[in-house]
Amino acid sequence: MTTNRATEATTHASNQAGPGLSASSAPIPASSIISARGLSKVFGSGDQAVTAVKAVDMDIRPGEFLAVTGRSGSGKTTLLNMLAGLDQPTSGRVIFDGRNLDEFSEAQLVNLRRTRIGFVFQSFGLIPLLSAYENVELPLHIGGASWRERRQRAGEALELVGLGSRTNHRPYELSGGEQQRVAIARALVTGPSVLFADEPTGELDSVTGITIATILRDIARERGVTVITATHDLSLADMCSRRLEMADGEFTNSPSP
Ligand SMILES: Nc1ncnc2c1ncn2[C@@H]1O[C@H](COP(=O)(O)OP(=O)(O)OP(=O)(O)O)[C@@H](O)[C@H]1O
Ligand SMILES: [Mg+2]
Repeated sequence: MTTNRATEATTHASNQAGPGLSASSAPIPASSIISARGLSKVFGSGDQAVTAVKAVDMDIRPGEFLAVTGRSGSGKTTLLNMLAGLDQPTSGRVIFDGRNLDEFSEAQLVNLRRTRIGFVFQSFGLIPLLSAYENVELPLHIGGASWRERRQRAGEALELVGLGSRTNHRPYELSGGEQQRVAIARALVTGPSVLFADEPTGELDSVTGITIATILRDIARERGVTVITATHDLSLADMCSRRLEMADGEFTNSPSP
């Protein structure tokens, strides 16, 4: 994995630690499933440089349902992508379950995303030629699970999102809310500990959005999955156990749990 972190300056100006102690050196709590310290992302360089995330420090506890809110362009997606190991920070670090993602090889990152992390996106991201059931079992197929295991786990995941009977339909035969439920089932089928949901209700009407928000909340509450969502949807944010507001790449409220 290539890294240019060592050569780039870390922007710690906004940290509010006591004298002589950068908040970015604060110890990682043992109870944290994901922590960030001094996490920054700069896109482009020179006059074109955009600092999308600025020296973010945060600790996320297992089973939290966390909302990251803020205006368009405030850095929510960029932050989530770094926390999920999808995008590399310009500086700072992400600690996932006690391990620095910096030290992961590309293959280890792929494995982490395949086994520990689920993703849900605004536009569902289902494969049009596959049925709902086939979309859900796909991650298990890729992981080499047996037919019996795929059948059982995909069935459970679909049940969890309340989609028992519509599993042979293709995505275009389903409503937006149903497609998002399939996408959530697909994200959960491998039994991840963390689910990232970037604008999961962004393409849904408000009533359907609340159904999806409720499913996400129950996944955190009842299954102990840590759910981290970026959203403009205040109904969804209100259902979360904690809300962090971003502006210009920084949190405007305290990131402590
Ligand atoms: N790949 C990229 N290259 C250059 N700039 C980028 C890239 N991705 C994001 N940015 C910039 O970084 C900033 C933060 O973008 P980001 O997508 O994280 O915002 P967001 O809060 O998720 O916005 P939205 O609510 O619209 O999804 C923006 O100024 C954006 O233009
Ligand atoms: Mg975004």
